[in-house]
Amino acid sequence: MIRAWIVSTGSFVPERILTNDDLKSLVDTSDEWIMERTGIRERRIADKTEAASDLAYGAAKAALKSADLKARDLDLIIVATVSGDMLLPSTACILQDRLNAKKAAAFDVNAACSGFIYGLSVANAYIKSKLFKRVLVVGAEILSKFTDWEDRTTCVLFGDGAGAAILEATAEEKGILSAKIHSDGSMWDLLQTPGGGSRKPASRETIRRRLHFIKMKGNETFKVAVRTLENLVTETLDENNLKPSQLSLLIPHQANLRIIKATAERLKLPLERVMINIDRYGNTSAASVPIALDEAVKAGRVKEGDHILLEAFGGGVTWASALIKW
Ligand code: UT7
Repeated sequence: MIRAWIVSTGSFVPERILTNDDLKSLVDTSDEWIMERTGIRERRIADKTEAASDLAYGAAKAALKSADLKARDLDLIIVATVSGDMLLPSTACILQDRLNAKKAAAFDVNAACSGFIYGLSVANAYIKSKLFKRVLVVGAEILSKFTDWEDRTTCVLFGDGAGAAILEATAEEKGILSAKIHSDGSMWDLLQTPGGGSRKPASRETIRRRLHFIKMKGNETFKVAVRTLENLVTETLDENNLKPSQLSLLIPHQANLRIIKATAERLKLPLERVMINIDRYGNTSAASVPIALDEAVKAGRVKEGDHILLEAFGGGVTWASALIKW
């Protein structure tokens, strides 16, 4: 049987660090509130000139280097993002040009924070069907450019960054064992950037009403996320006849430390077997899972033969999991 396995990973984050104390000069908040409610201590913020494809490029180059591959070896590039360089063209095409990946097809996936795992599932399907042999999947976000820095309920949460993985076909007993994607569009209004699309095209009025910034019904989203992720992780393991005790590492989307802990508790997983970096990066949406994966690999927390579980929940609403034998 042909499977898709992850040959290499890479990540890239902007240099500038914004701490909770820095945010106190922008909105009425405190380090205590942010730490207690979210687990975030600091986040990375891109500079004025940087766009999502620049961060994607950094992560993609790192993944290519680590696999000792050239961009021309890629058959397909998928970029998961909700903060792409432009509405048109796709960030994946801009990245393809920058990498000079002449042979590759390229397109974006929009599944908000679940985007990277959605991208993995698409790559997995292409590889298993033998249409493509080698796929680059990137999660890249610059949410800071869509953040309302006057809204304390959202501006303390998000950060910028990118993570990447290169997948290849293998006949060995390893790689993606299952990639599950789900959505429930009836909750599309929980998380949205209302202005600048075809519903409310950019105008003086949309800007005056701050509609080009991300809006989130935080508390509602929190409740749905906890419930959905608890079911998702137990279902994914059950379907693959794995017990939580056989899981070496859980790599969750980093939206809120309380959500991460609730999922770990449901699986009775000690926190040593959960990858957590939300304290340093905040919520980087589609970039959060691949950055965490890359850090786990670099830190030697993922070894050959290990079972690892990636999971995420995001706007749409969408949710997704990938169970991988490393
Ligand atoms: O990544 C995609 C999916 N996203 C998520 O899963 C995120 C889900 N949501 C969350 O993580 C949490 O809901 C938040 C961290 C956004 C908010 O935490 P919460 O425990 O749900 O707080 P809340 O929205 O119920 O607000 C509690 C209080 C409010 O004050 P009142 O009305 O009780 O007086 C807020 O105004 O906290 C206040 N508040 C703040 N206070 C200080 C909200 N933001 C802040 C802030 N600093 N930054």
